[in-house]
Amino acid sequence: MMNKKKLTVLTINIWWWACVMGGVGANPQINLLNEGCSQYNATSLSDFYTNLNATFSDLRAQLLNGSKHFATAQQAKGSDPVYAMTQCRNYLSTADCVSCFSAAVSQIRNCSAANGARVIYDGCFLRYESSSFFDQSTLPGNVGLCGNQTESPATTFTAAAEELLMDLQVATPKINGFFAETSKEIVSGSANQTIYGVAQCAETTSETGCQDCLKVAYTNVQSCLPDTDGRAVDAGCFLRYSTTSFFPDNQTTNLAPFLGKGSNSRKKAIIIGVVVGGGGLIFLIVGFLIYFTLSRKPKKVRRGDILGATELQGPVNYQYKDLKSATANFSEENKLGEGGFGDVYKATLNNGKTVAVKRLAILQSDRAQTSFENEVKLISNVHHRNLIRLLGCCSKGPELLLIYEYMANNSLDKFLFGQKRGSLNWKQRNDIIVGTARGLAYLHEEFHVCIIHRDIKPSNILLDDTFQPRIADFGLARLLPEDQTHLSTRFAGTLGYTAPEYAIHGQLSEKVDTYSYGVVVLEIVSGQKSSEIKSDTMGEFLLEKAWKLYETDRHSELVDETLDPSDYEAEDVKKIIEIALMCTQSSAALRPTMSEVVVLLKSARSGDYRQLTRPVFIDSDHKRVRADTSTSTGTSSSNATASISQVSGR
Ligand SMILES: *[C@@H]1O[C@H](CO)[C@@H](O)[C@H](O)[C@H]1NC(C)=O
Ligand SMILES: *[C@@H]1O[C@H](CO)[C@@H](O)[C@H](O)[C@H]1NC(C)=O
Ligand SMILES: *[C@@H]1O[C@H](CO)[C@@H](O)[C@H](O)[C@H]1NC(C)=O
Ligand SMILES: *[C@@H]1O[C@H](CO)[C@@H](O)[C@H](O)[C@H]1NC(C)=O
Ligand SMILES: *[C@@H]1O[C@H](CO)[C@@H](O)[C@H](O)[C@H]1NC(C)=O
Ligand SMILES: *[C@@H]1O[C@H](CO)[C@@H](O)[C@H](O)[C@H]1NC(C)=O
Ligand SMILES: *[C@@H]1O[C@H](CO)[C@@H](O)[C@H](O)[C@H]1NC(C)=O
Repeated sequence: MMNKKKLTVLTINIWWWACVMGGVGANPQINLLNEGCSQYNATSLSDFYTNLNATFSDLRAQLLNGSKHFATAQQAKGSDPVYAMTQCRNYLSTADCVSCFSAAVSQIRNCSAANGARVIYDGCFLRYESSSFFDQSTLPGNVGLCGNQTESPATTFTAAAEELLMDLQVATPKINGFFAETSKEIVSGSANQTIYGVAQCAETTSETGCQDCLKVAYTNVQSCLPDTDGRAVDAGCFLRYSTTSFFPDNQTTNLAPFLGKGSNSRKKAIIIGVVVGGGGLIFLIVGFLIYFTLSRKPKKVRRGDILGATELQGPVNYQYKDLKSATANFSEENKLGEGGFGDVYKATLNNGKTVAVKRLAILQSDRAQTSFENEVKLISNVHHRNLIRLLGCCSKGPELLLIYEYMANNSLDKFLFGQKRGSLNWKQRNDIIVGTARGLAYLHEEFHVCIIHRDIKPSNILLDDTFQPRIADFGLARLLPEDQTHLSTRFAGTLGYTAPEYAIHGQLSEKVDTYSYGVVVLEIVSGQKSSEIKSDTMGEFLLEKAWKLYETDRHSELVDETLDPSDYEAEDVKKIIEIALMCTQSSAALRPTMSEVVVLLKSARSGDYRQLTRPVFIDSDHKRVRADTSTSTGTSSSNATASISQVSGR
């Protein structure tokens, strides 16, 4: 818990190269400094272990085959992505580096299914997380680890060690590869002493990141002086000094070109210290310092004795004032949209990252507060490439805010009906159809809690840089009190996407999302809004029109005319339209589950589906639903068809 921690050295490091001429022998320096496992487990273990194993073998190949000392790897197959990073101290040989890495792999596997973990040894470190962390520099949980013996004479030693560490801190960020090792001789009366020091930053941090991290590391390790050994560990850097050699003497870095002026005056201070220390005064000073060291109170307590980084894989609590300034006081210019659950703003955080902040329009009570925290924790553990990541939350007074990753391309409705209408080609539309189905299948069947979205519509499907879909707003319906969940005013405007049994009877199942999905697919194919009546269609709604064209085998007439007919195959379009119609059948029991939809989308051709039944058509004012949906047993398709009365457009 304390910043200064006595380190029990488990491994006695023998510096073979110092003893054996010719450098036979090996020392991978697997002295464990720090480890930690995330409190959150991966959701799909098979995906997770496949990804984890793949990143580890990728890292190993880079170290071994590429003789690298730093490597990153990532795998995002399925639901649990893995981002991994490893780094060896540059003085380790390839063989030592790989054996340190192997030790780290077997150690880190003790975290079993945790979605993030790290192991830090003297010789190397290994870390993985469920999202990218490669640019991180300093994080809460950074810590200094001190030896258990003090050096004397203390003043001389402390001053010399401080200078060495300061030089490393200043020079290392400027050195290509962010690694430096140096040594310094202290001339004192009876025996000369050498201090050895090493500093290293992750190669994927920036120069400023490296500086910031080493600054913190310097402060942490300085508190160890006058101990003979000290180390500082952090997310993006490592700093170590010792009076025992721990790297080959002949490899030190020349720091001089990287140090500005000012080191002269520090040199003077050391010389003065040496001169003073040489005299008889030394006894008094040492005695005083030993007394002082022994009676020293623990230094300021830092929270968490392990690196906070990994443990923060749950929701992050953001500061209200930071969000307020990041959104320019929730200004209109920063508003991205108005959703069913509140307004969304674009926010640029202090670290330069852009996020989306949703200001929830839900009144907060004590009960809401507790369930809010639980739900946020749940939602923030949903990781899937077709679902928007919830990064964190913030609650201040009655205000509840959710922080999401930012999607530059905005939402699907802009591309279907808005300014960018007609700009999506067939392949992009197909990808969006498949990706959205995958995201929903994950929410329904793969995540450990079944999450029904209840509000699937194009404005809730965001597009990333490569136009892959990311479903937004999932899980939020769970925050609403039970009696507000169906047919509230929030949903009335989008009844076009709402399954009839939910709109009328409030019957909720995952098939409610299947229905909405089917409607959205028809919109993607046709470029027509489900609630709009096109002048050329004799007053028919989209669903009704699609059904008629299906019955007369004229599917292709539904396709958006902005699409180039050579861009798609008629068979593909037919298949997708039929899947959409299957999803929108009036009886929930007849609709496929979303994982069945994924399989159907992947399967080759249309035609081999169960008999479709005519969907329910809902009146244009969205209030009077004149369809009989009570027979949702779906005994046979012809019966079901007969029991549904069709309502024409007007
Ligand atoms: C210091 O650590 C070494 C092993 O690293 C141990 O053998 C020794 O007993 C420790 N000394 C004290 C005073 O704790
Ligand atoms: C994570 O999984 C491990 C073993 O698979 C289990 O012991 C642990 O309780 C799980 N933790 C959580 C928070 O579910
Ligand atoms: C991953 O590697 C571990 C250890 O080598 C092995 O036990 C496990 O079966 C592997 N899992 C997968 C999914 O490849
Ligand atoms: C090692 O790298 C070379 C090229 O750099 C590559 O051709 C070879 O397949 C690699 N071997 C392994 C085992 O990864
Ligand atoms: C992993 O955990 C097991 C049992 O919990 C323990 O016996 C083993 O030593 C651990 N391995 C490492 C490398 O810490
Ligand atoms: C200490 O170093 C100084 C200067 O490098 C040298 O003159 C002296 O002989 C050394 N003393 C011992 C005991 O090694
Ligand atoms: C350092 O010394 C070792 C043997 O002591 C030698 O093998 C190695 O090549 C030397 N390295 C440099 C950079 O001179």
